[in-house]
Amino acid sequence: MDNGTVSDARPSVFHALLSPEGKDEMYVVPTVDEMKDEATAFFGAAADTTGSAMTLGTFHVLSNSSIYSRLSEELRDAFPDPVARLEYLKLEPLPYLVSPEV
Ligand code: HEM
Repeated sequence: MDNGTVSDARPSVFHALLSPEGKDEMYVVPTVDEMKDEATAFFGAAADTTGSAMTLGTFHVLSNSSIYSRLSEELRDAFPDPVARLEYLKLEPLPYLVSPEV
């Protein structure tokens, strides 16, 4: 971005901010400092919310042994290698992880 070019290989929120598409005639291209402010706000919005949700969820899983057993069994079946990366595409279809009421 600093050199004035934007790759289209993997569009991000910054592509939207830098594009006049869909904006009114008042649109001005954000400065680098404004983009840095956006990035800071974005990281803040993502980290605080997700961190709190994960912390609370983990607390409740660890506080309930039947939930813990069922969830860890499902995860162990899906990821037998304990050091393997937990790929999102393999996590998403796990029924108990994504929808514990079933
Ligand atoms: C459990 C996770 C999350 C919760 C509960 C949550 C909640 C919210 C809420 C309630 C708002 C609206 C605030 C308002 O309009 O007053 C909001 C806005 C926003 N969130 Fe999240 N969020 C979460 C995760 C994330 C993540 C992961 C990202 C980025 C990767 C993110 C980025 C944003 C941004 C950029 C806005 C402002 C959108 C706008 O310009 O209107 N949030 N979030």
